[in-house]
Amino acid sequence: MKKLRLGINIDHVATVRNARGGDNPDPMRAALLAQEAGADGITAHLREDRRHISDDDIARLSQGLKIPLNLEMAATPEMLAIALKHKPHAACVVPEKREERTTEGGIDIISHFDRLKPIVTQLKAAGIRVSMFIEPDRKQIDAARELGAPVVELHTGAYANAQGEHREKLLKHIRNGAEFGADIGLEIHAGHGLTYENVGAIAAIPHLVELNIGHFLIGEAMFVGLTNAMARMRECMDRAR
Ligand code: PXP
Repeated sequence: MKKLRLGINIDHVATVRNARGGDNPDPMRAALLAQEAGADGITAHLREDRRHISDDDIARLSQGLKIPLNLEMAATPEMLAIALKHKPHAACVVPEKREERTTEGGIDIISHFDRLKPIVTQLKAAGIRVSMFIEPDRKQIDAARELGAPVVELHTGAYANAQGEHREKLLKHIRNGAEFGADIGLEIHAGHGLTYENVGAIAAIPHLVELNIGHFLIGEAMFVGLTNAMARMRECMDRAR
């Protein structure tokens, strides 16, 4: 099985910085360290309320990395303009509600198809690889293909939070979704809530190409450093393949 790519989400370095204002800790420094430690990409979510990553962070990340930048963005005119300005390697379209603590579910492509279509079209025309962050649901995966997105990122949050039989059921759902998506020609990514403990079963899904992991790794980095935390996550992923 092909090695999985690991994208490091550095949003929560910015969360800690913003707790005090000022410049430290710097998410750009974390991104450079992750790059040095063998990350395959850096992911950053510029939220409408700028609660963690800032516009300046995106400008610096766009300029200063050798590895691909994946910009997570809501499907709004403001975020589209920012993406078109910086032209990151990739854009992952996510739902966004101001009051949520994190991205709590996938985007509902079917309900928002007409609003999403021009955004996806413009991102693609600018040479940005578009992925849609969705629940591992066949209808949503099929809608992503109809939208013209080459990639879907399957939301693993519900799986990560579940226990026992329910977790097994959700895992099967992700596995089936990944297989279906790959069969219809999409590149399949996954992410949200992944830890050393729960990543193995996800990494074992043969159709997956990339995982995006943030919160847990940034937390672990406080105790063992980002390089060590990434190395252990890699081990957990590679062992499962
Ligand atoms: N993928 C997407 C699309 C996300 O929105 C997030 C969270 O910002 C992640 C992956 C990473 O999730 P976590 O921080 O829980 O690892």
